Amino acid sequence: MLILSPSILAADFSVLGKQIKEVEAAGTGYLHIDVMDGCFVSSISFGMPVIQSIRKTTDLIFDVHLMIERPERYVEEFAAAGADIITFHIEATEDPAALIHKIHDLQLKAGLALKPATPVSAMIPYADMLDMLLVMTVEPGFGGQDYLPESTGRIAEAKRIFEARELAKDIQVDGGIRADNVHVALEAGANVIVAGSAVFQGDIGKNIEKMQKAFLDFGK
Ligand code: DX5
Ligand code: ZN
Repeated sequence: MLILSPSILAADFSVLGKQIKEVEAAGTGYLHIDVMDGCFVSSISFGMPVIQSIRKTTDLIFDVHLMIERPERYVEEFAAAGADIITFHIEATEDPAALIHKIHDLQLKAGLALKPATPVSAMIPYADMLDMLLVMTVEPGFGGQDYLPESTGRIAEAKRIFEARELAKDIQVDGGIRADNVHVALEAGANVIVAGSAVFQGDIGKNIEKMQKAFLDFGK
């Protein structure tokens, strides 16, 4: 199943609740929530209080992308705030397996994220336990960057690793994805598509419709 996960990093925070309603009305199932700590990445975005507030306004699946050092310190709090999926970076923790277990113990889905410079093979020891692999298609830290062309081969490599082990796991892509290039990531094997600027810049409903049309065209 192809899933669109609009990233609220590109939203207008003065009308965040309203924009989330627009996303929901357009029929996407996920909402991508980028948490940045100013250490793992240079920017700071937002944390639990924002997630808690928007949790009251929507039933969308909260796909929380933690770009923070030592994410194991905070997963209980993100769970309590309303996360449904917690994705953390393999580069940010010493024991990814323990953290995946911890997220599962909280009854949430666990995602493992790879920065563009991290070999895809680094995820092999966790391939059977994770629910989703996030292949970053830009350097994490900012919205509005261009898709890194070398990402395509990395997505395909992740797909091969899962297929060789007969594992049906989600492959998420994040960064620089728009309606006019999403087919590249889909062809390579991604099925959960994050889009920030491509959804929130301009008319949200129309932008999502464009992306959904690109999904349908890919299926043809
Ligand atoms: C980047 C974030 C992305 C970002 C994507 O570090 O993880 O989720 O919001 O934004 P676009 O789609 O504008 O590249
Ligand atoms: Zn993200």
